[in-house]
Amino acid sequence: MATKITRRSWAEPYKMKMVELLKTTSRAQRIKAIREAGFNTFLLRSEDVYIDLLTDSGTNSMSDRQWSAFMLGDEAYAGSQSYYKLEDAIHKYYGYKYVIPTHQGRGAENILSQIMIKKGQYVPGNMYFTTTRVHQELAGGIFVDVIIEEAHDPNNLHPFKGNVDLQKLENLVKIHGAEKIAYLTLASNVNMAGGQPFSMENLKAVRDFTKKHGIPIIHDMTRVAENAYFIQQREPGYQEKSIREIVREICDHTDGATMSAKKDALVNIGGFMATNDPQVFEEARNLVVVYEGLHTYGGLAGRDMEAMAVGIKESLDDRHQHARVGQVLYLGEKMQEYGIPIVKPVGGHGIFVDARAFLPQLSQDQFPAQTLAAEIYMDSGVRTMERGIVSAGRNAKGENYYPKLELVRFTIPRRVYTQAHMDVVAESAALVYERRKKIRGLRMVYEPKYLRFFQARFEQL
Ligand code: F0G
Repeated sequence: MATKITRRSWAEPYKMKMVELLKTTSRAQRIKAIREAGFNTFLLRSEDVYIDLLTDSGTNSMSDRQWSAFMLGDEAYAGSQSYYKLEDAIHKYYGYKYVIPTHQGRGAENILSQIMIKKGQYVPGNMYFTTTRVHQELAGGIFVDVIIEEAHDPNNLHPFKGNVDLQKLENLVKIHGAEKIAYLTLASNVNMAGGQPFSMENLKAVRDFTKKHGIPIIHDMTRVAENAYFIQQREPGYQEKSIREIVREICDHTDGATMSAKKDALVNIGGFMATNDPQVFEEARNLVVVYEGLHTYGGLAGRDMEAMAVGIKESLDDRHQHARVGQVLYLGEKMQEYGIPIVKPVGGHGIFVDARAFLPQLSQDQFPAQTLAAEIYMDSGVRTMERGIVSAGRNAKGENYYPKLELVRFTIPRRVYTQAHMDVVAESAALVYERRKKIRGLRMVYEPKYLRFFQARFEQL
């Protein structure tokens, strides 16, 4: 008898050795919890959360090999062996010459911004990221968005929505001169655009242009392996290359990097700054002792650096990325089957629901994404994150930024949840979507000065 199988499924390239039990809550308990949290999912206690899709940051499951490496941590204050293992991994897989560990990504952003930005200089980037921009501004820089226009349109199917618009970059250089530009921040798999990659072709063109004008490229490589996966899947000429090779090629086209290892690199804490410039390294070694710790631990325990070195290697496994991005795609397809408006194409680290399209009755000042994240939580205990006007914050003059994208991020931690969890999440989003017309917005009643989305409080209108 002929088989009915027309295609073969893939599965996660691992099995479970230990599990963490989840708590479920009643709707009444969740309503109480979100009220107490000021309708901000960042202020919920995780014990009140069922499936936690707040972030993919520091929420990864470590492998048995990473846990074993933990036991090898050399907790020396200076010259820890674990530092040298991390340095070796970064040399080998990413290729940057000099490495400064930091407690997480923003520690690296702080040091790098202070070194490389002179007051009043411009810092172009392929879309802003919250912590990255705040450090650039605190260092006296002015962020300028140079991502392609397609990135601001949730329905545009461009395969590389993380690309830099060279015309925008060229205009900036024409108007202000190259010496007024500190560097270009180039993020791989752009978070705020929905986890969207840049292409190698675009990177090469950007490299040619910046080289000509003496502008360094600083790579925010937080999700570089996910970007490499998309290049492998979508860009002509890369199908036969491994993720490991593509990642190395990306890094080789840039001058330095900041990294939050809490994402791609499969650890719960950690990051680093890397550079090929000995002078920048010299200054970073000076500054790191002020803000993070000695240059051979930068705010991390020896065991954290061990786990990171192993995690970097595991992140570059083709099967790992296939399963990781595949799970995100699975959730995205489910949501689209239910008619839920999401950012397309589906990105690498989560599903970004278009809150403007979901709740068209709310103006942006009524915080559609913040509202929707609270509604999803009340429905099922699934925790998501606002990525819209609250996250965008205010400019140096104190005016609200009004970002074009008003999104709720359903972020998938790596190696943590199963396909069945994804089904539960999609069904919850679908049920909220069914009663979307009855949903009212929010009013902000407390606003912190920096990175307000973390601690702002709201009331229902
Ligand atoms: N750059 C990107 C692209 C990020 O996504 C993050 C963190 C950072 C830098 C800062 O790194 O948190 O280690 O200090 N993103 C988290 C998120 C917070 O949920 O998207 P960090």
